[in-house]
Amino acid sequence: MQITSFKQYEEDYKKSIENPEQFWGEVAQNFQWKKPWFKVLSWNFNEPDIKWFEGAKLNITENCLDRHLEKNGDKPAIIWEPNNPEEESVTLTYKMLHERVCRFANVLKRNGAKKGDRICIYMPMVPELAIAVLACARIGAVHSVIFGGFSAKSIADRINDSQCKLVITADGAYRGNKQIPLKDVIDDALIGCPTVEKCIVLTHVRTPVSMLKGRDVWWEDEVKHVNDICEAEEMDAEDMLFILYTSGSTGKPKGVVHTCGGYMVYAGYTFTNVFNYQPGEVYFCTADIGWITGHSYIVYGPLSQGATSVLFEGIPTYPNASRFWDIVEKHKVNTLYTAPTAIRSLMSFGEEPLQGKDLSSIRVLGSVGEPINEEAWHWFDEKIGHGKAPIVDTWWQTETGGIMISPIATVTPTKPSYATLPLPGIQPILVDENGKEIEGNGVSGNLCIKFPWPGMLRTTYGDHERCKQTYFSTYENLYFTGDGCLRDEDGYYRITGRVDDVLNVSGHRIGTAEVENAINMHAGVVESAVVGYPHDVKGQGIYAFVINPEMHGEAELTKKDILQTVTRVIGAIAKPDKILFVSGLPKTRSGKIMRRILRKIAEGDTANLGDTSTLLDPGVVEEIIAASKALK
Ligand code: WTA
Repeated sequence: MQITSFKQYEEDYKKSIENPEQFWGEVAQNFQWKKPWFKVLSWNFNEPDIKWFEGAKLNITENCLDRHLEKNGDKPAIIWEPNNPEEESVTLTYKMLHERVCRFANVLKRNGAKKGDRICIYMPMVPELAIAVLACARIGAVHSVIFGGFSAKSIADRINDSQCKLVITADGAYRGNKQIPLKDVIDDALIGCPTVEKCIVLTHVRTPVSMLKGRDVWWEDEVKHVNDICEAEEMDAEDMLFILYTSGSTGKPKGVVHTCGGYMVYAGYTFTNVFNYQPGEVYFCTADIGWITGHSYIVYGPLSQGATSVLFEGIPTYPNASRFWDIVEKHKVNTLYTAPTAIRSLMSFGEEPLQGKDLSSIRVLGSVGEPINEEAWHWFDEKIGHGKAPIVDTWWQTETGGIMISPIATVTPTKPSYATLPLPGIQPILVDENGKEIEGNGVSGNLCIKFPWPGMLRTTYGDHERCKQTYFSTYENLYFTGDGCLRDEDGYYRITGRVDDVLNVSGHRIGTAEVENAINMHAGVVESAVVGYPHDVKGQGIYAFVINPEMHGEAELTKKDILQTVTRVIGAIAKPDKILFVSGLPKTRSGKIMRRILRKIAEGDTANLGDTSTLLDPGVVEEIIAASKALK
């Protein structure tokens, strides 16, 4: 199923459009099924109701583990690189990983987990995180991984939304020179989570934690009570595999639901093709498993293809800005898949961190999560790839399950800052405000997808209507991505960023409404409005306009109080970069905040505010502009 020439890409693409069922049916033959499907696809975008490989039975862990044992059992599946470079790295072969997953799957059963139960995972980037994820899949439990940077309140909301029965966590996590007390955060969260019966705690940082009798058990003790034989649960292709919460333009984060069969096929197919993965190569994706990139391209995609996947606990700048390059050299990494924000941050250290580092193993480079600017693209190409490693700028989303628009390494001619062409099976279209298709090249519009693909979301957990409203109602019969996009003269796609109220801060998706809700929870705050603005390293920064709160005497302290509140409500990742106190917000006569104006002010582009005549109180704009100029 690997594409090796541009001609083949064109042929496969054509086939995938003309006869999608045949195309995906053939791709799916490369996976292991317990029972075949009777229908490749049935779909309806209006409901939405999408089924792939109907009637088929499988277990994704058999594809990620068991099927490699005979030939590649001693091959490294996961190479773990710890936060502290002085510590030993750990290699788990496919045999070892299989054994540990089965053993931990038995621990889950011993603690009452059954097929269909939801299990929350809040862990550091250690091999046990991948083991926990796969163990859930082994027994047919639905995992909901929550990124280690979210607060107790965010965790509680997510646990309650999907009524998790179990939580898997660790005493703490290392992040550079910081230590994060994961179990403490979980303890706070669980005060408000009546459905959680058990909490399994891994010892990692060896910090003292509270252990509640009857609820909390140690990972290390539990694994002693079980053996390592665990039959893989037979799952329907359309059974739920996992839930992953992500931010939208309104309200609370949604639990995006992915199912077993289609997701597996799509993650595996896109992994092997986009990165042109060759047997024996070492592949390093720097994302966190708490996000979709880690799910699809650290765990499921690579392991389903028998690849060797590096799992890194730390951050790019610890103990110094050479860390990625040290890892590349140490593990002879062939593919490095990272985010523009990491590239920009490392660029800012100059070339010194690269001195003497042997990057000659690198063959393919990848970028994901946000638009990559040309400067970062060229730096990545020249300094890291030495002009010889193709860069795959991969556009996709939590909802798409896998990469959608991207070059295929060694096959598709690349162009700086372009995600280039759709992968086989993907039918992008650009539409105008009214949903009318914008045809031809040299155009731009809102990016939609007009035909289903196996990795797409099926629903949002517990609220199917919300899935319909968010993705399938803006434009009839289309999946709406929320992204703006241009298609150049060559038919190449370039993603220009979100067209809704979702921010992309260091590659993290954050809803402006969520941040506003968090700020408004501060006791003194009357109202706030949050917009994004261009940020050199983060891509976008968060700019908050806050109506003068009660200040307990001090504005600077009040700003810190607000940051603290946001950290409590969402997590440190959502802290505003700038807070501006104002006496009012620009509103229309019907009370709607005119964000367009605030965005311009945040960008410092106050000369072009456009029409402000419909404002209730145009005077407020002058005041905000003056105040914004005084803000550093
Ligand atoms: C953005 C991450 C430009 C986009 C996999 C999308 C990108 C959102 C790219 C999804 C890219 C992701 N170029 N923008 N290569 N990749 N995005 O759900 O706005 O965390 O809608 O999934 O990130 O973010 P999410």
